[in-house]
Amino acid sequence: MQRTNDTILKYMIKVDNITKSYGSIQAVAGISFTIQAGETFGLLGPNGAGKSTTIQMLSGLLRPDSGTIEINGTTDTTRVDVRQNIGTTPQAIALYEDLTGWENLSFFGKLYGLSGKTLKSRCEWALEFSGLSERRKDRVSIYSGGMKRRLNLACSLLHEPQVLLMDEPTAGVDPQSRNLIFENIQQIKLSGRIILYTTHYMEEAQRLCDRVAIMDHGKLLALDTVKGLVQTYGGKSILEAVFDREPQHLNGVHGKLEGTQFRAETQQPLETLARINALGVNLISLHIKQANLEDVFLNLTGRRLRD
Ligand SMILES: Nc1ncnc2c1ncn2[C@@H]1O[C@H](COP(=O)(O)OP(=O)(O)OP(=O)(O)O)[C@@H](O)[C@H]1O
Ligand SMILES: [Mg+2]
Repeated sequence: MQRTNDTILKYMIKVDNITKSYGSIQAVAGISFTIQAGETFGLLGPNGAGKSTTIQMLSGLLRPDSGTIEINGTTDTTRVDVRQNIGTTPQAIALYEDLTGWENLSFFGKLYGLSGKTLKSRCEWALEFSGLSERRKDRVSIYSGGMKRRLNLACSLLHEPQVLLMDEPTAGVDPQSRNLIFENIQQIKLSGRIILYTTHYMEEAQRLCDRVAIMDHGKLLALDTVKGLVQTYGGKSILEAVFDREPQHLNGVHGKLEGTQFRAETQQPLETLARINALGVNLISLHIKQANLEDVFLNLTGRRLRD
């Protein structure tokens, strides 16, 4: 992941009004977005939102029914030279269970056109990267779910692609593997590549993505930085406090006081807290619930992200 040169920096993805139906089911209903060079872009949405279908169109596996996808100035994403600069981590793990970790990497490396010393060194790199060097000779069938996920991700990086399409790369893994995968992705981010990351975990989108598109029923409902989304659609944060005694007055602190119990809905909970501090009462308890992407989704759709 060393190639931080001009070829990476000029990469850009433009998606213009793409649609895709499977028979009578419209999976993607006209979406548009642009991903800038070096950006990690999140598609956040519940089951069936159309995330995988979008990824498959970007990777050249499916053709849109209408609309265009432009990757690095080219609109035919099925072209071999375009696909060679894309790495896809599929949602369904794509590994050969009867082959070892090393054999899987070697197989996928060859598919990407690697051979000889380059193939060997890239496979070594991938094992190291995914923390599986010591398990290289084990068949994948005896790997844990998290190990398979990590190998699945490493396979998509062998050919050092400029664009990475990751479809729920942490699905079904334990917290330890999830953290390892996050560290891996942070490392890839630093190399300046474009990452398109789909998830239905708002914490992941919040932690990794520069910008996030909220997707539901094949459409994008909103697109912005996490901060921007929360500011526009997240509603107010809630601050609840219990004081050691009833304050004489609230001195301009906006909120509701019942005896020693205080509750405020505010865009600026920390500012409210500072004002409370000036009231001269002590806090027995304090709870602040900051608005987050879950609230954004709830406010946009009336539903929770996870059912
Ligand atoms: N091969 C297919 N044939 C028919 N319908 C499909 C096919 N693939 C997806 N769909 C349908 O298209 C819609 C979008 O599916 P898609 O897999 O793109 O959603 P997703 O956002 O990736 O969901 P998940 O979070 O569950 O992975 C769903 O209604 C799904 O049932
Ligand atoms: Mg999916």
